[in-house]
Parts: sequence; structure tokens; C-alpha cells
Amino acid sequence: MVMPRCCCLLRIIIIIILLLPAGGIASAAASSDVALLLERVKPALQGQGQGGNAQLATWTASTPLCLWRGLRWSTALAGPPPCDSPAARANLSLARDPALLLVSLRLPASALAGHLPPALAAFSSLASIYLAHNALSGPIPLDLGNAPALAVLDLASNRLSGALPPSIWNLCDRLTLLRLHDNALTGPIPDPAGPNTTCDALRLLDLAANRFSGALPSSLTAFRGLQRLDLAANRLEGPIPQGLAGIQALNLSYNNFSGQLPPDLAASAPDSFLGNSPALCGPPLAQQCLASPSGLSPSGVAAMVIGLMAGAVVVASVSIGWAQGRWRARRAAEQGTLMETTEDGAGGEGKLVVFQGGEHLTLEEVLNATGQVVSKASYCTVYKAKLAEGGGSIELRLLREGSCKDAELCAPAVRRIGRARHENLVPLRAFYQGRRGEKLLVYDYFPGHRTLHELLHGEQAGQGMRPALTWARRHKIALGAARALAYVHAGHGEAHGNVRSSNVLVDECFVARVAEYAVHRLLVPSAAEAVLAAAKADGYRAPELQSRGCRCRCSPRTDVYAFGILLLELLMGRRPSGDLPAAVKAAVLEEVTMMEVFDAEVARGVRSPAEEGLLQALKLAMGCCAPVAAARPSMAEVVRQLEEIRPRNSSRPSAIYSPAETRSDAGTPTAAV
Ligand SMILES: *[C@@H]1O[C@H](CO)[C@@H](O)[C@H](O)[C@H]1NC(C)=O
Ligand SMILES: *[C@@H]1O[C@H](CO)[C@@H](O)[C@H](O)[C@H]1NC(C)=O
Ligand SMILES: *[C@@H]1O[C@H](CO)[C@@H](O)[C@H](O)[C@H]1NC(C)=O
Ligand SMILES: *[C@@H]1O[C@H](CO)[C@@H](O)[C@H](O)[C@H]1NC(C)=O
Repeated sequence: MVMPRCCCLLRIIIIIILLLPAGGIASAAASSDVALLLERVKPALQGQGQGGNAQLATWTASTPLCLWRGLRWSTALAGPPPCDSPAARANLSLARDPALLLVSLRLPASALAGHLPPALAAFSSLASIYLAHNALSGPIPLDLGNAPALAVLDLASNRLSGALPPSIWNLCDRLTLLRLHDNALTGPIPDPAGPNTTCDALRLLDLAANRFSGALPSSLTAFRGLQRLDLAANRLEGPIPQGLAGIQALNLSYNNFSGQLPPDLAASAPDSFLGNSPALCGPPLAQQCLASPSGLSPSGVAAMVIGLMAGAVVVASVSIGWAQGRWRARRAAEQGTLMETTEDGAGGEGKLVVFQGGEHLTLEEVLNATGQVVSKASYCTVYKAKLAEGGGSIELRLLREGSCKDAELCAPAVRRIGRARHENLVPLRAFYQGRRGEKLLVYDYFPGHRTLHELLHGEQAGQGMRPALTWARRHKIALGAARALAYVHAGHGEAHGNVRSSNVLVDECFVARVAEYAVHRLLVPSAAEAVLAAAKADGYRAPELQSRGCRCRCSPRTDVYAFGILLLELLMGRRPSGDLPAAVKAAVLEEVTMMEVFDAEVARGVRSPAEEGLLQALKLAMGCCAPVAAARPSMAEVVRQLEEIRPRNSSRPSAIYSPAETRSDAGTPTAAV
């Protein structure tokens, strides 16, 4: 950072020394910006053309300086701009003022036919050069990289040739715009000289429509402030590096790029990559990658070793690669040679589809994450996994072998799940589909969250301190979960399919996040049956799903039933396996006092159940659990009613429901990187 400036001071001194004996005029005038402009810049820009240039013809001693075209001046001393007053604009001797400094050179489309003089680097205050749409030829001078104040350089649509000097990145600290498109520049795009050049100020880099060749240097991905990068219509080739995802306008079209697009670009527009090698593949392009170019071998997949935790003791370790191998062996045995041929045909690793907020995840990273088992369900194992090198944690659900449908059948459902975003829904960030059919769902991991099931029914031993679950807090959890379900239902009439307290995560502020949305859509019928059987055993299964032989499917109404059970679970503090609706009915018939129905913790401090909305909540829950599906309210209606029956917490009226608290900051730990 310091070096270039030293060089540049040195260079100015050298120029002055060179000018002094040669110029023969007064020394002050020789080093002034006006003299430099007349002696070095004007002849260079003008070129050899006959007749002279109309704009440059104004740069002469017989014209007041302020009327010279295309120039902006300031004075070394602070004060008003030198061309502010009418008197100054008519002052013929102003050009002899040695204190004048050139700050801007702006002559676009001015029929300039010469070349760029190295002397452009010698103006101490020149901040912008706009010379687009001229006929300037020759190279971009190496010295330009030493211009001490240059922040904007627009040389588009000229006839500049030769290489782009690496010194151009010396300007990086101040340079905000570098536009060189539509010239005849050749050679590679140079790397910056310094190892960690981040070009923090650079917003726009446009090198399109030249003849640049070679690879896209990965050093460009380190330019942190870049918003627009246009490299279209060059002769660049090779893979597109990862790390360009933050750029708002990216154009890499009409080069000869090949290989798999990095996953972080999967969400960008396909017309950023038009007209490249047919070997450029992967989302967002329609072209599928046949084999992963990342060099990740099947043993790379096997490297995803997941430590199996039982309680606090590491009992054994299991690798996903190993599980895949087992599954492959079984399938191969069942299906004969079919399996073998598909594998021989393409030896790649499958693919990672990333969704909004998962752009930073790479296949390699996900497969190499190390983790521990959090829980197991009939069709999947849930892992908490840590990404390498401070990449944060993710939650992985490995769908069990043989439990899910084919990739093509899954794809639309996965895309729908991946698009769903709601503050009370655990977002799906990525989906991995292995070549052998294994599937991984990648979610945000929420540290410090516990499942509602754990909060309500967890053994106190080893659980740590459990916060008091007052009615106000339970109501907040119920409302959060209800909102997530209403959102899911509103989207596409989609059902969640597995509403239960173990699928509701709760953070320290009692914000609920519903997990496992629509996963049943990915399962083969037998696996979906197993989910329903578990739901029945645990008391969440709607009656219409129980009749044998009926091909009833999960629907928003079956979700409402399950939510009703969950609400009863919250109110009564009891596990739902014991038929909670029946228990409530029995209590009503036996005329026990209402307060005996509610969990002791809920009833504590409640003066009148009707006043605090407890009775209404109970009624709502019973309505959700109506045996006839059509009699149940919609989830939107449930949200409305829950909002109405907000408990009035007399001691701290606003603490629980302050807006800041409903939106927990613990939201997206992996996306925050
Ligand atoms: C013209 O400019 C010169 C140099 O800045 C200055 O000394 C002189 O006073 C100016 N003359 C008028 C009439 O403003
Ligand atoms: C460049 O960055 C890397 C990683 O951030 C660091 O290890 C290295 O020391 C840096 N090099 C210099 C010269 O700053
Ligand atoms: C593009 O690159 C491929 C190699 O990836 C090469 O075979 C091909 O000739 C190149 N095409 C052009 C037009 O340069
Ligand atoms: C990229 O540039 C090419 C040609 O210059 C153009 O056709 C294409 O639409 C551009 N794409 C985007 C995303 O701007």
C-alpha cells in the first residue's frame, strides 16, 4: 500500500528533473499542471491527424484557462474553485498560476486519435479520466498505475491494445470504476502484485469485449467491494472460480469457460454465462454436469465421518460413505447389473442444490463436515455438523437408504421446500443428491434451541436449567408455530405433514421454529406409512388418516388436527400419546374444576382462565381436533384466534411481546458468515 506512493513521489521528482533542463522556461511553470497538460498530454491525445482537434484546440494561451474544454481545476490552497466568477472565467493570465491543479479530464467522444501519455500519472490531484468513445490506440501506460489520486478511469470503446499492466491494481485503494470495454487488449487479466489485494473501493470492473485470454484469476474474487463485473466477450477459459456470488451484476458470457459452475452461483441468472464452452455446466444452466470436476473421489464422500454420540460418550463412529456403500451393495444385489452400469457410466459425486442463504455452502464442505447424531427418526438421521474452518454449524438430515423417491420425483418438492422462507420456519439451505440416490437435507443449525418436546417432557436430569413455561410463553410458542403452518398452507396448499412437538424448535426468547416441512413428499409410500404410524403412536395422527385402505394423504386439515394436539400438549403439559381430546372431554363430563385440566405451571398465577384466554385456547384446540376434517378451522383462522386471546401479563405487559423479541437474532447462523 505504501510502496506505490513512494514510487510515485520519486517519479514526479524524476519528471521534474527531466523537465527542468529540457523545458528552458521558468521552473515553476515547467512543473505546473498547466505546463504538463500542454507539453505532454495535448500532443499525445491529439495524435498525428491533420487539422487538429476542436476540443484540444481550446487548450491554448489565447483562450482563458476556464474555457479550455474537458477540464476541471482546483487550487492547491483551500478556497473557491478557480473558475467560479465571471472575472476568473475571462482571465487570460490565470493559466500562468502555478497553484492550479487538474482534477478531472473529461473528453468522451471527442475524436481523439492519439495515445495515452504516461504523463497522466504525474498530476497530483487528477481524480477522474473519462476518455471513452474516442480512437485512442496503443497501450495503457504502465505508469498509470502510479497516478496518485486516480479514482475513475473510463477508456471504453477506443482502440487500445497490448496487455493490461498489473500496476493498474496499484490504484485499487481509491479506484472505484475501471471501464475498458470494447478495446483490443490482449493477454491475461493480471493478478495484483500484492498477495492480499482486496481493492476495497472498486465497485465496477468492465473488461468486456476485448481479447483477454487465459483463466479468470481467482484474485478477482478477493475484491470485496465489487458490485459489477463484466468480462463478457473475451477469450477467457477454464473453470469459473468460487467467490463471485456477492457481485450484483456479473457477466461472464461469450468466453470459453468450462467445467462445473461453483454452487454459490447456482442462484444467478443464466444469461450471465451465455455462449461459453458446452462443457460449462451445473445450475443455473440447463446443461447438467456429467462428472464432478472437483476431483472429489468416492473416498472424498467417505471422508464425511460423523461421530456417533450417545449421551455424552462417543460410542462409535459412522461414515456416510460407509452407509452409501452398504446401500449400493444391497441395491446392486436386488437390481442386478442395472445399478452397476449407471455407476460406471458416470463416476461423479452427485450434486448440491443450494437455496437462498446457502450460497456459501460447497459440496466439498458439506461432505467433509464433521458432526454428531442429534436424533433419529424412522426415515432419517439428524446430525449437527460443523463446517471446516469456522464455517459455522449446519443441521443435516440424511434420509435413510431406500426411504426416498427418485431424484426426478423429488426435485419439484425440494425446490418448493427450498423456497419457503418464514421467520418461524427452519429454512432449507441446500439439498445433496448423491449419485447413488442418497439424499441429505441441509438446514440452518440453531445453537441454544431446544425442541418443544424436550422443554415440555424432557427428563430434568442432564437437561440444564429449564426456563419456567408460563402461559404467556406457551402462547407465544403456539402462535409462532401456527404462523409458520399458516404460511406453509397459504403457499401452495402444501401440508407440513409431520407436526409434532419434537419438530418445533424453541429459542431462549420462546420464538418457535417449525422444522421438517413437507419432508413426507420426498418419501416412498412405505416410509411415509412409517411416519404416519409414528404419528399415530404419539397421538398426532388425524382420524381420517387411520382408516386402512383409504389412500388419504396428509393435507392442511391433518396438519390442523396435529396442531390442535400440540396446543393441548402445551396447555395440559402432558404427552399426547394418551389421547388428550378424550381426556379433556372426560374432565368436562366429570365436572372437575377447569384449573385441574391445565398444567400446574400454566395455571400458576392465572386468576381466571377465561380472562387470560386459557379457556378460549382450550376451545380452539378442541376445535382443531374435531374428528370431521371439514369442521376444523383453517390455520389462518387459528392464527387469528390465537392473536385475539393473547394473555394479558399483568406484571410485564409488553416484555413478552415486544416486536424485537418475536424476531430472534439467533436466526441464521450459517448465513451470517
Ligand atoms: C487572473 O489570475 C491571476 C492568477 O491567478 C491573478 O493573479 C489575477 O489577479 C487575476 N486577474 C483578475 C482580473 O482576476
Ligand atoms: C494474506 O492473507 C492470508 C490469509 O488471510 C494470511 O495468512 C497472509 O499472512 C496474508 N499475507 C500478507 C502478506 O498479508
Ligand atoms: C475452448 O476450450 C476448449 C478446451 O476447454 C478447447 O478445446 C477449444 O478449442 C476452445 N475453443 C475456442 C474457440 O477457443
Ligand atoms: C452479458 O453480455 C452479453 C453480451 O455482451 C449479453 O448478450 C448478455 O445479455 C449479458 N448478460 C447479462 C446478464 O447482462
